Amino acid sequence: MTGATIETTFRTAIVPAAGLGTRFLPATKAVPKELLPVVDTPGIELVASEAAEAGARRMVIVTSPDKKSVVDYFSSKPELEATLERKGKTAQLEKVRRAGELLDVEVAIQEEALGLGHAVAQAEPNLDDDDTAVAVLLPDDLVLPTGVLSKMAEVRARYGGSVLCAFDIPKEQISPYGVFDVSDTDDADVKRVHGMVEKPAPEDAPSTYAAAGRYLLDRAIFDALGRIEPGSGGELQLTDAVALLISEGHPVHVVVHHGGRHDLGNPGGFLRAAVDFALDNPDYGPSLREWLIERIGTAH
Ligand code: G1P
Repeated sequence: MTGATIETTFRTAIVPAAGLGTRFLPATKAVPKELLPVVDTPGIELVASEAAEAGARRMVIVTSPDKKSVVDYFSSKPELEATLERKGKTAQLEKVRRAGELLDVEVAIQEEALGLGHAVAQAEPNLDDDDTAVAVLLPDDLVLPTGVLSKMAEVRARYGGSVLCAFDIPKEQISPYGVFDVSDTDDADVKRVHGMVEKPAPEDAPSTYAAAGRYLLDRAIFDALGRIEPGSGGELQLTDAVALLISEGHPVHVVVHHGGRHDLGNPGGFLRAAVDFALDNPDYGPSLREWLIERIGTAH
């Protein structure tokens, strides 16, 4: 990583995973949406892997009291591992062990669903003195290809403050997102942020740059989270804490990401992600491609 040092980068990733998963009912009656498999790997592992790749050593999963299975997923399964080992199933053994080897996993409990900002705040007691910044990864968002967090760490090394990931999306699709008010820097893919607003109507959106579920936040965010009032949807919004920091002169930039993105938070987005990943999978890709072509060709 060029330019980023231990003081300016991050070691801890916070992953809010306390949502009810209402868009995925009835499956989420029994299975947290973060454990639904994209081909064969739960979304939470994909996000953990992205965080580890960017240098995170620890992941704090913020979840609700009845969703601890999201955290249990990262513990070892000695009996299963011994059975696979005995049977010589080394590929499966590697898959079973992979998640637990990525980084240290801790849990923080959000007792009440009071919003994303409130969820992130629950992870503060898990931090150490040297956590000067934290990454926040929303597991609903797959940002592809991975690597944007490393670029965000470089931008923090240059400008200080906090750095978020933005997608440029059509104005008429902007209202489900946090939207940035930006100006240019000397790098076309890095913008200075002057304000941020959660879920604006398209006509009120300050730009077409939307927050895409990846944040590199200075530790000052926790103080700001303690000072915000309920905002959009009556919830404590992470966006409002970022906006508060900006209003107090804290530098905030975005890295504009040009790759792909999948929304795992609803069945339509999830299916796209699964098909996208499956098409690239050597075991399933070729026959899926053939079947899809035939299926689409005969669809009416
Ligand atoms: C959250 C954030 C929003 C961001 C979005 C990205 O909204 O509040 O600012 O743009 O994630 O997916 P949610 O999707 O939880 O409503």
